[in-house]
Amino acid sequence: MRKLFIDFVLPGMKVGRPICNSKGHVLLNAGVILTRRYIQRLKSMGIPAIYIDDGLLSDVEVPDVIPDDIRFSVMTNVRSFYSNLEIKSDESKNIIGMKKIGKGINDIINQLLESPDIVVNLTDIRSVDEYTFGHSVNVCVLALLTGIKLGYSKAKLYHLAMGALLHDVGKTQVPDYILNKPGKLTEEEFMAMQQHSDFGYEILLKNDNVSRLSALIAQQHHERLNGHGYPKCLKNDEIHEFAQVTGLVDIYDALTADRVYRAAIAPYVAYEMIRDYAGLLFDSNLVNAFLYNVAAFPSGTLVKLNTGEIAGVVETAPGYTTQPTVRILFSHDGRPINDKKEIWLARKDCTLFISSVITDESELNTIKSKLS
Ligand SMILES: [Fe+2]
Repeated sequence: MRKLFIDFVLPGMKVGRPICNSKGHVLLNAGVILTRRYIQRLKSMGIPAIYIDDGLLSDVEVPDVIPDDIRFSVMTNVRSFYSNLEIKSDESKNIIGMKKIGKGINDIINQLLESPDIVVNLTDIRSVDEYTFGHSVNVCVLALLTGIKLGYSKAKLYHLAMGALLHDVGKTQVPDYILNKPGKLTEEEFMAMQQHSDFGYEILLKNDNVSRLSALIAQQHHERLNGHGYPKCLKNDEIHEFAQVTGLVDIYDALTADRVYRAAIAPYVAYEMIRDYAGLLFDSNLVNAFLYNVAAFPSGTLVKLNTGEIAGVVETAPGYTTQPTVRILFSHDGRPINDKKEIWLARKDCTLFISSVITDESELNTIKSKLS
């Protein structure tokens, strides 16, 4: 199964994984053969990419970090929390909403603690218009995985998760034309955008069901170790660890998502960018804890090895996130290999490594034509 951007999807391709809308309703099930009309409809709904089953690695599963029902219910509750703020509805609605959010956070924490070996392959595929809420849940999940690796208690995880989930709530106070502007922001617009950190802090501080610590995450998630962040240009220890964790996973998830103004950055590129930030923008320990559970080469990625062989990524183990288990698909001279031989690249005697990732569709089509 592979992730394919919608512009590359062609009639006749088979859906590899159910395609859901932002409410969690299934639009097309796995196994459905796509028609021109289906593809057009997906495009018009703003679905940026889907999983397809094109015969290569069709038995490889891309596991979910949290089940869809938890993901969609938390997304729905965050969405209504945001809209209640916008219409300034009565306090009771917010209290009920916040209790639901708290329950959702506990569900996510329990789910993650039950599966300590989980590795994030890809954050989910979101429709562009639902970016905010999908992103909030992803940041929450990625922050929690980092917190679990750092050995945080359940109570600490809860404060981290609440702040991570609502880190951008202050954006409800920033004009839409600035939030959705495709081009570069003017200096004035950028200053208005930067205010979302303080706005978020104030909104959360006023809410009795949110701790000061969680509110602080909203205020400090754009601060950076070197003092080049905002709003207060804090440095090093002045930035709370939870805000640093949220800041770094926020960048990773934003990079790997499709946005209105640019397509997603490949996971391994985002992985390397985050690794380069260690010690500069974020504490190295926190970066390492985060990368421990994030696959640089998600399952289903096609790669070229140092031997010239072409392989598919089958699985990634925690702590070895740049050295997955791969299945050799083609020899160095392009002959198909059908014995499904799998190699863990972190195995002691293994001299193989990934030299490049195959992202070019035409290269891929050449490979596939050799199969038929
Ligand atoms: Fe932000």
